[in-house]
Amino acid sequence: MSESDYETEGPSPQTAVDVFKGLWVSRLPGGLEAGEVPLFEDDRISWLVEQVPIAGTSVLELGPLEGGHSYMLERAAARRVVAVEANRSAYLRCLVVKEVFGMHRVDFLCGDLVKYLAETRERFDLCVASGVLYHMTEPLEMLELTSRVCDRLFLWTHYYDAKLLKQNERAAGHFPDGKGPLYRYEYADALEVTSFCGGTRPHSFWLDRQTLIGTLRELGFDQLEFAFEEPTHINGPALAVLATKTGST
Ligand SMILES: C[S@@+](CC[C@H](N)C(=O)[O-])C[C@H]1O[C@@H](n2cnc3c(N)ncnc32)[C@H](O)[C@@H]1O
Repeated sequence: MSESDYETEGPSPQTAVDVFKGLWVSRLPGGLEAGEVPLFEDDRISWLVEQVPIAGTSVLELGPLEGGHSYMLERAAARRVVAVEANRSAYLRCLVVKEVFGMHRVDFLCGDLVKYLAETRERFDLCVASGVLYHMTEPLEMLELTSRVCDRLFLWTHYYDAKLLKQNERAAGHFPDGKGPLYRYEYADALEVTSFCGGTRPHSFWLDRQTLIGTLRELGFDQLEFAFEEPTHINGPALAVLATKTGST
């Protein structure tokens, strides 16, 4: 037993948040002291909510980190959000967020999203995969499995582009060989950072833009709306795409 295992203040949302003091990435609503990144008021999700009626729908969220997007989707009146998070500490922070903000329509699950996708029999109105595709060792498999559980997918991701990466030495340094069509990305030193929120392995594989778009189309997502194009994003070129199978919506 150590004294620091015990909270000596009276119970409050802040004492719950402070269980993970120093680890939070997200800025939390209500002036709670946590991290700095505005994931609970994220423009990408505000945009998504403007494009797609969320009220009354079921949403599968892949890699919620600390539940910021889950919070926004619940606020947009989703009937149910299932959010699958593999990082144990992030998962526990999701549970703190769920309790502090009373997110009764969100179920956080701890585990690997690819295994979840392969095993679930549930279908969802929408899948939100923000910041996860480029953390996968088998991104094509992930897209294929995702396409089986939903007809509408919101994806925010980095992608490989040799020309653009030439202007970004730091990001380019993570690709040891630059050989495609799957581009091996090594996390390297990033693995040592306490706030690391990447993939489950020391490496992942990135897709280039053409392969990403071609794969979505092959999987039946015939309508693609692009947003948040950031070719010069500090961590590598990035985009958001809302992919829909129009025949089924
Ligand atoms: C970069 S963060 C993205 C967080 C948030 N979705 C966003 O867009 O800001 C990636 C998240 O996915 C989680 N993650 C990565 N690989 C995963 C996997 N195989 N299964 C479940 N979660 C995973 C990470 O732990 C982290 O929480």
